Amino acid sequence: MKLLVTGGAGFIGSNFIHYWLRKYPKDKIVNLDALTYAGNLENLKDVESNPNYKFVKGDICDKDLVNELVKDVDVIVNFAAESHVDRSILDAENFVRTNVLGTYTLLEAAKNNGNKRFHHISTDEVFGHLGPNDPAFNELTPYEPRSPYSASKAASDHLVRAYFHTFGLPVTISNCSNNYGPFMFPEKIIPLFITNLMEGKKVPVYGDGMNVRDWLFVEDHCQAIDLILQKGKIGETYCIGGNSEKPNIEITKKIIELMGKSEDMIEYVKDRLGHDRRYAIDFSKIKNELGWEPQVSFEEGLKKTVEWYKNNESWWKNIKTGDYKEYYKKQYGK
Ligand code: NAD
Ligand code: DAU
Repeated sequence: MKLLVTGGAGFIGSNFIHYWLRKYPKDKIVNLDALTYAGNLENLKDVESNPNYKFVKGDICDKDLVNELVKDVDVIVNFAAESHVDRSILDAENFVRTNVLGTYTLLEAAKNNGNKRFHHISTDEVFGHLGPNDPAFNELTPYEPRSPYSASKAASDHLVRAYFHTFGLPVTISNCSNNYGPFMFPEKIIPLFITNLMEGKKVPVYGDGMNVRDWLFVEDHCQAIDLILQKGKIGETYCIGGNSEKPNIEITKKIIELMGKSEDMIEYVKDRLGHDRRYAIDFSKIKNELGWEPQVSFEEGLKKTVEWYKNNESWWKNIKTGDYKEYYKKQYGK
């Protein structure tokens, strides 16, 4: 099989490429990535000389390039996106461009080149947010996105569904909860807090720290995508979750404990605008139909993740310079 993976130089995409080439060494992967601030070829150093792997620097909105690449593959797996909620609050333009126009461009190319198999990576944030006693999101939950990021992802999901209904494009979508693990860009809470503590900096907890996220180790997400590609029903959506709902303050304290630091390092800062209160995922559909469930517990995954950041200091130190510093200043005022 030949796959076009978009956004493969980012966090989940690079983990997926490692996963796939390990599991299916005869398959071929073309990685199309624009190398925005979040794309990093360091994430793929150990596969760059693999003859079954090819990197193409380019934009998923580039119609001609996308068309050329799609011609030559069997499957498209679309990870490419602007992915960070806080950045979408500072400036949403790139979110609309990449997440909506980019997905549209890929869908058009898939349609115009013999209706290629298309898997779209999406998020639980398209469903909005939950109160403390609401049932978890599932595949039938109505869309109610509340941030520019989640609105742009919701728009892309709708386009993917439309291409299935209108043109019969063989699509699947997965809506996953918060991932964590190696190669995660240190703007997201877990790697930000680990690396801040390693630098002797405080960890900025938004609001009252009681917002809840569901956490999934990235390798488990890759396995779920694999199963959907092999056995998923065309035209369907699959919700993927970690069965691991945690308030942010609990995660913060766990990271502090694992790193042997003091809770004095916690700094409560002003809340994120429109901050979604709680996400939770009911993943019984993928469990019952495809036999998937998470393998890595939060305790084990968090330990592994802390170790990875300790062992890969130069990876994140290189990132926490330049553009990142400007972003950090805008976001946290220092
Ligand atoms: P990321 O920000 O780490 O990586 C995104 C990648 O896309 C980067 O390599 C970037 O260079 C590339 N990219 C951005 N714009 C592009 C463009 N116009 N053309 C080509 N490449 C472009 O993101 P991530 O956390 O790995 O997320 C990957 C996907 O998974 C996204 O679609 C995101 O919405 C979704 N998702 C993420 C999570 C999470 O917890 N991180 C959870 C659920 C779903
Ligand atoms: O739910 C899936 C989504 O998870 C993905 O679609 C997104 O791409 C991904 O970025 C992630 O979004 P979140 O907004 O949930 O992740 P983030 O790590 O930015 O924030 C997690 C929680 O931690 C959220 O409640 C905000 C809070 N937070 C975050 C940062 C960066 C803090 O309290 N302090 C911080 O400095």
